[in-house]
Amino acid sequence: MKKSIQLFSCQSLILLLIRSLLPLLMLPETVLADPRTKTVQIMCGSQLEHNVTNFVTNFVTTMDDISDQMRNNGYGIAVSGTGPDSNYGLAQCYGDLSLLDCVLCYAEARTVLPKCFPSNSGRIYLDGCFMRAENYSFFDEYKGAQDRAVCGNTTGKSSSFQATVRRALLSAVEAATNNKGFARESVAVSGTTNESAHVLANCWRSLNTSSCKACLEDASSSILGCLPSSEGRATNTGCFMRYSDKNFLNRELESGSSSGNLIVLLVAIVSSVIVFVVAIAIGVYVWKQRYIQMKRREGSNDVEKLAKTLHHNSLNFKYSTLERATDSFDVANKLGQGGFGTVYKGILPDGREIAVKRLYFNNRHRAEDFYNEVNIISSVEHKNLVRLLGCSCSGPESLLVYEYLPNKSLDRFIFDKNRGKELNWDRRYEIIIGTAEALVYLHEKSKIKIIHRDIKASNILLDTRLRAKIADFGLARSFQEDKSHISTAIAGTLGYMAPEYLAHGQLTEKADVYSFGVLLLEIVTGRLNNRSKALEYSDSLIIVTWKHFQAGTTEQLFDPNLTSQENHNNNVKDAILRVVHIGLLCTQEIPSLRPTMAKALEMLTKKEEQLPAPSNPPFIDESTMELKNIYDDPLCPLNAADSIATMSYSEFYPR
Ligand SMILES: *[C@@H]1O[C@H](CO)[C@@H](O)[C@H](O)[C@H]1NC(C)=O
Ligand SMILES: *[C@@H]1O[C@H](CO)[C@@H](O)[C@H](O)[C@H]1NC(C)=O
Ligand SMILES: *[C@@H]1O[C@H](CO)[C@@H](O)[C@H](O)[C@H]1NC(C)=O
Ligand SMILES: *[C@@H]1O[C@H](CO)[C@@H](O)[C@H](O)[C@H]1NC(C)=O
Ligand SMILES: *[C@@H]1O[C@H](CO)[C@@H](O)[C@H](O)[C@H]1NC(C)=O
Repeated sequence: MKKSIQLFSCQSLILLLIRSLLPLLMLPETVLADPRTKTVQIMCGSQLEHNVTNFVTNFVTTMDDISDQMRNNGYGIAVSGTGPDSNYGLAQCYGDLSLLDCVLCYAEARTVLPKCFPSNSGRIYLDGCFMRAENYSFFDEYKGAQDRAVCGNTTGKSSSFQATVRRALLSAVEAATNNKGFARESVAVSGTTNESAHVLANCWRSLNTSSCKACLEDASSSILGCLPSSEGRATNTGCFMRYSDKNFLNRELESGSSSGNLIVLLVAIVSSVIVFVVAIAIGVYVWKQRYIQMKRREGSNDVEKLAKTLHHNSLNFKYSTLERATDSFDVANKLGQGGFGTVYKGILPDGREIAVKRLYFNNRHRAEDFYNEVNIISSVEHKNLVRLLGCSCSGPESLLVYEYLPNKSLDRFIFDKNRGKELNWDRRYEIIIGTAEALVYLHEKSKIKIIHRDIKASNILLDTRLRAKIADFGLARSFQEDKSHISTAIAGTLGYMAPEYLAHGQLTEKADVYSFGVLLLEIVTGRLNNRSKALEYSDSLIIVTWKHFQAGTTEQLFDPNLTSQENHNNNVKDAILRVVHIGLLCTQEIPSLRPTMAKALEMLTKKEEQLPAPSNPPFIDESTMELKNIYDDPLCPLNAADSIATMSYSEFYPR
């Protein structure tokens, strides 16, 4: 067991390194287009796992194994363990995704699929990739009882569109069988000027040609049933197929030019040097880990002993107490679900209400580290931070205990037309100030400096008096080493992630400042920083705000819930404008230009202070992945601002 722990930490270090080097290594062929991380369908098996410890270990090992393959091939299969809890996994990105987008899509799939736990199997179809896990070998399965079509329900299309879709589907099946199972088609609808039918077809690469063909034929006949709807998707056992009147396909990857080849050569040289350095680093690391492990073995690393020392500690909750408090994790008590675990409401014997987070992955094998981490985080106290009360660190499952907040999270208010009315400007301003103060505290005043990494509306909880409390701080820190959560960092929440963090993994406080800026714009406009589903190619909220700000028409963006209440109050209007201005200062492209949180707080509170003019927000050029000025290409949407997590987590309690 100890040996395997050691391997785990070593592996996660490698993964971390790969992750931070990845953008560098992939630069020449990198295209950050749309990773299409929207979940189309998730299906969980009906059999439960057999032994949690074995199941989780195997599942996580499979996911990591596949993760490495995805980075290089956009496809991976892996098998871990033996017996009833063995894990067979397959994941694949569809053929039009770049490798970087593939990593993002897989990260989302891998973060969402554990929802199926404690079921021992599941499959998830996203718009950009697929993943499945079972306890038996399913790699050559291509049809099953669960195969089905998922139809869009928008307006019926013309008969010429329908005829075009039929033709495009047929030729896609044909083309895919001759092209390693992948095909894309865009066919113009005759008799119209601007309408086309777009089709994507993809088989899992584990299938042979005849199975692939059979799967696609089934899939195409089942999505024909979606017509005359404008949108149809087939989620079959061995393949995925989609047609749409919108062009959802990513641009075709260009083949390398001669200057491209030079870059490839350069990168090859640079990366081999890096690999060498990494190898040395790993060697040193492994040696150090062994040394530490040896030291620990001499000390007391024993769960039993730890349990004894924890026994009288107020941070430690008995597993049985928490089990009773939540009615054995009854569904009725479930508050939400996220990347780290499921959250339940509980009532302690003394009547205290608590929120219990049941982590997907067990930290039992390193209970002491887990406990120490909880100890540190729980010592970080501020009126605008959700209190971590303790944990059940050595029980059969890892549980975290938080104070309970009845009002749930900010996103439930600001993005909801009706509940948004409960938050007038004074309340919103108080929430903004509270959030800013808590971030200043985390960055500068607490014993350990904490970069939150995941500031977003759904992580701002509201207490009974609608004051802000930030949730989930420190979790990224404590789970950094836990392999199951590396993906969470990258899956993060793209709409809120600073471009330098997203593209190069550079993490400073300025990444939180960026997310805070996005949050300010959302609070004021009541809109998510996310391309709306109707207008797939519209601009992100930041770009829209920037344009209005430049044009002097910012007021048009204000949340109607604010303007209807404060219509005649010019002071309020000025205050809102100022917050927009500060939001734009916080989301500037160049991190050093963004204020620190302390400075941002000062700007928010000292209303007479003159604000500098904001420089442009980040704008990612798809072909070079370089940040560039908005005016170079006003039509290009800010792809980095596409939030993957908010789509699937908007209804969740803090993650
Ligand atoms: C699960 O498997 C582990 C390792 O094989 C074993 O130590 C443990 O006792 C098992 N747990 C149960 C509940 O059977
Ligand atoms: C898969 O898991 C189920 C439930 O634990 C078990 O009954 C079944 O035998 C397992 N299948 C294999 C192939 O081990
Ligand atoms: C393709 O795979 C299927 C399922 O494994 C198998 O039944 C079939 O014989 C294979 N066909 C060819 C041509 O290899
Ligand atoms: C169908 O449309 C309704 C209302 O327009 C929407 O609420 C629902 O989510 C849509 N369903 C699907 C599957 O798109
Ligand atoms: C196509 O053109 C028609 C009029 O020619 C217009 O109403 C419609 O919005 C256009 N559709 C798209 C997707 O551009």
